Amino acid sequence: MQTVSMNVNGEPKSGEVEDRTLLVEFLREHLRLTGTHVGCDTSQCGACVVHVNGVSVKSCTMLAVQADGGDVTTIEGLANNGELHPMQQAFKDNHGLQCGFCTPGMVMSAIDIVNRNGSDVDEATVRKELEGNICRCTGYHNIVKAVHAGAKNMGG
Ligand code: FES
Ligand code: FES
Repeated sequence: MQTVSMNVNGEPKSGEVEDRTLLVEFLREHLRLTGTHVGCDTSQCGACVVHVNGVSVKSCTMLAVQADGGDVTTIEGLANNGELHPMQQAFKDNHGLQCGFCTPGMVMSAIDIVNRNGSDVDEATVRKELEGNICRCTGYHNIVKAVHAGAKNMGG
């Protein structure tokens, strides 16, 4: 066992983990941040995406010890004083979800896509970059619409 410490959603957090503890386990089971989902055991679904040091990461593919000393943002950290992040609002407004299971990972990936590609990111890029996020409900069309709307909102 060893102690890891990281800033999670702007607050310092630490805990005792095993070498093999995944970041997603640390977030869900130690910190009870259960908005980050686990949808597979093959690193394919993207339901577990969080940001580590500002970049999207599948938190089932990273050890908690690898995030030691880092800045982690989960879906719980996006809203500001009860106001949804522009990307969350865009998913709501554009019906970018049905069951909602994939949504935390979709939103975290979408924000990273906009951060890296700018608010006028084209549809082909959005579709290509969301390949690592699987949705079993929506058929993706409204998710892509939501990402574009969120991109505009994030751009101000
Ligand atoms: Fe499916 Fe991480 S839980 S990719
Ligand atoms: Fe159900 Fe995407 S909304 S899996």
